[in-house]
Amino acid sequence: MGTNVYGVVLAGGIGSRMGNVEKPKQFMEVGKKPIIIHTIEKFVVNPQFEKIIVLSPRQWIQYTQDVVRKYIAQNDRIDVIQGGETRNETVMNSIRHIEKNYGLDDETVIVTHDSVRPFVTHRILEENIRYAKETGACDTVIPATDTIVESTNGEYITNIPNRSYMYQGQTPQSFKAKKLRDVYEALTPEEKEILTDACKILVLKGEKVHLVDGEVFNIKITYPNDLRMAESLLGGEK
Ligand code: CTP
Repeated sequence: MGTNVYGVVLAGGIGSRMGNVEKPKQFMEVGKKPIIIHTIEKFVVNPQFEKIIVLSPRQWIQYTQDVVRKYIAQNDRIDVIQGGETRNETVMNSIRHIEKNYGLDDETVIVTHDSVRPFVTHRILEENIRYAKETGACDTVIPATDTIVESTNGEYITNIPNRSYMYQGQTPQSFKAKKLRDVYEALTPEEKEILTDACKILVLKGEKVHLVDGEVFNIKITYPNDLRMAESLLGGEK
């Protein structure tokens, strides 16, 4: 019997903030391997994942398949498919793929993770699976270290929330897939445009989302400087 848990590696973006590079940032190398490979490896070593769905831009699907075959010997659980226009649409494509090929029920869990966060740990993945199963949804976060200052006009402070209530969002974000899809499908096109964070969709619709402790080093590679940071973090992993 399957575990009904799917890994979802989000690689549908083009990495515009990385600047002018010949390929999207998830395919750039750190420690002699594409970033996305480091990330997929974290999923592959966990036997709880029935399948690992990797979603990339249409014109990069073949390339993604090629690097997966080149670097990961145990690749029979990995499906590479097309991502969506937005990050949430990419998540929805993964749910559609699971429904069509493997079947979806109320307990089917997806652990969705940025392909550009290669330092996710076994502990974080395990806790995501556990809380998604137990509570329906969870989000990986770390406590805010800096005071968070809000300004809705970019000129003056409009609020300084109590720092002890503030966290920084990371990934994975994990869900009972059917529930997430149902809530997302009920949104208006305007809401879909504003609600770019999958957990925010649930929170705004009154659904509970449990916290999972992230790690300071579970960084998202966004800007060129993050590549240097990633290289030095990899040194520490070995
Ligand atoms: N992502 C996705 N599908 C999209 C957009 C983003 O799967 N339509 C993924 C990215 O590939 C990335 C993750 O979501 O792994 C986090 O997003 P971000 O860092 O913002 O990636 P990009 O959108 O690629 O970067 P940028 O905003 O700089 O263009």
